[in-house]
Amino acid sequence: MSKPISLTGIKPTGTPHLGNYLGAIKPALELREKYSTVYFIADYHALTSVHNREEMRSNTYKVAATWLALGLNPEEGLFYKQSDIPEIFELSWLLSCFTPKGFMNRAHAYKDKVAKNQTAGTDPDDGVNMGLYSYPCLMDADILMFKSDIVPVGKDQKQHVEFSRDIAERFNKHYGKNIFVLPEAVMQADTDIIPGLDGRKMSKSYGNTIEIFLEPKELKNKIGKIVTNSQPIEEPKEPEKCNVFALYKLFASEERADALAARYRAGGMGWGHAKDALRELLEERFAKPREQYKALLADTAQIDKILAHGAEKARTIAKPFMQEIRDTVGVV
Ligand code: TRP
Repeated sequence: MSKPISLTGIKPTGTPHLGNYLGAIKPALELREKYSTVYFIADYHALTSVHNREEMRSNTYKVAATWLALGLNPEEGLFYKQSDIPEIFELSWLLSCFTPKGFMNRAHAYKDKVAKNQTAGTDPDDGVNMGLYSYPCLMDADILMFKSDIVPVGKDQKQHVEFSRDIAERFNKHYGKNIFVLPEAVMQADTDIIPGLDGRKMSKSYGNTIEIFLEPKELKNKIGKIVTNSQPIEEPKEPEKCNVFALYKLFASEERADALAARYRAGGMGWGHAKDALRELLEERFAKPREQYKALLADTAQIDKILAHGAEKARTIAKPFMQEIRDTVGVV
């Protein structure tokens, strides 16, 4: 029996950080045991907000290199760039013809933007392009094209996957044929528990991130910025109340975390020592992938080749399926 299909869309915006790693990348890579996996770079989704050529190119390569360096095997399952699969855009249009406009009005990214404009007293649709408005229709095509059974997402994307399920169901009912598989959103670990430098959730929008592949010196500087209190070295400290420890615990074995906690409680350990321990741990985990990441980025032709090969493989599925869908609606 073949495995169920899990599909992960990765929007190439910004340099991936430890919050992305723990909340999205690591759990998505672990799905390989139970699922046949599809990973793709959602570059046309990024285009709704990134309108700078260099930024678009470098983010796309960075994101591809990150996933490859952290263990994504392009030979297993599918790995491609959305913009390389024209059938996805064809399907997106087709599905938009089955999508009530009211769904898009309710889509949270659009709604948030309108709410912000209203607060600012500007036109409600200020800064809203049609790509942003119909963003969920493109996601529907991403998801339904590859017959995804599950779609692991963060809470902000759950609504989009529910739209896909709804549209798929309407379409199937309308044509009396089980063309589309009904996808299910699977919630990813709550990233709220991953603290950034200031103790708030690690997020690009708070400017408190630690990027995954920092050079040792940069890493040391970043970790130096983690906010601690002013307890002196000799005083015993509470690991549960410390941002450094919270991060340490997310990466360490239980044994090592317990050992560091004991050092906190014993007194005689300063924040500098705790930060060194975290730095060493992260260095151990990411030094090797960092070399791979750098090697890939130094040879983007290699990434192009991997993605081109992935697209070719994906299109062997997308092309005949799109034909079947066209036939279903009577486009001949
Ligand atoms: N919108 C998703 C995000 O912002 C990325 C994405 C695009 C996606 N297409 C998808 C996620 C399909 C899951 C399935 O993170």
